[in-house]
Amino acid sequence: MKPEIRANAEGWLDYFAELKLSPFYLDRAKPSGNLGEPEVSVSHAVQVSPVPQNLAAPTAIRPTSKNPFAAQPKAETPAPLPVIKSASLFEAGERVTNDSLELIREHVGDCKRCRLCEQRNKIVFGSGNAHAELVFVGEGPGRDEDIQGLPFVGRAGKLLTQMIEAMGLKRDDVYICNVVKCRPPENRAPEPDEMETCSPFLYRQLAVINPKAVVCLGAIAFQALYGAKQSISRLRGQWLEFRGIPMMATYHPAYLLRNPNAKGDVWEDLKKVMAHLGLKIPAKS
Ligand code: URA
Repeated sequence: MKPEIRANAEGWLDYFAELKLSPFYLDRAKPSGNLGEPEVSVSHAVQVSPVPQNLAAPTAIRPTSKNPFAAQPKAETPAPLPVIKSASLFEAGERVTNDSLELIREHVGDCKRCRLCEQRNKIVFGSGNAHAELVFVGEGPGRDEDIQGLPFVGRAGKLLTQMIEAMGLKRDDVYICNVVKCRPPENRAPEPDEMETCSPFLYRQLAVINPKAVVCLGAIAFQALYGAKQSISRLRGQWLEFRGIPMMATYHPAYLLRNPNAKGDVWEDLKKVMAHLGLKIPAKS
């Protein structure tokens, strides 16, 4: 072979090698699944333009920014996507191994997941006995709760305390929490998206405490645990279930403050809860 032809050929071979196209010319005769196209891994794929026929073969290929046919710098293997250590991990499954109320509170953090964070003063996580047999779930903090960071400490809360004591229990015997952990402005009802964002924390609280009974106080708590648009006036006082935990809905204490006539209905409901927990029901009631 003439030296100039050999040099020309070697130049092209170097060129192909630099473009990682060696298999293309080495394996031409060998049929392959992809019609002899060079195998390139996706992460290292280099866009290769067809070699123009009228180009003089390079004697030495040195990638330069001006040379569109020069090998591109090797693309790095894409870094793995970051694993976000946030609520999304448990929001997806809503089950966390070795979960605890402390861990849930830690995950709530200085929550900014929904607009309720904008006007809240304190996050109201929940309070009471972490091993309670009975959990009361309300709607969301009001003004007093937002100031103190504790659930049911305002007027409705005082009535709830009386109800608990009428059952022969103390507040510290039970656990009290809400569907949303931040006060909705002007005490409006929480919006569906706010409930959806916050509910996973409630679900985890219930899973961790695993009480013998859950009492939903009012329609919002009932909807959060039993499904939207369920009628509390139709279903209150009946044993239902939330993820295997016996659950009953009754009227919210704030409703009772406005409608004292409904107190009798609530007492009937609470007596069923007492019976379920094996508590002594006062004879004259
Ligand atoms: N109403 C609720 O639903 N929850 C509270 O914590 C206080 C009032």
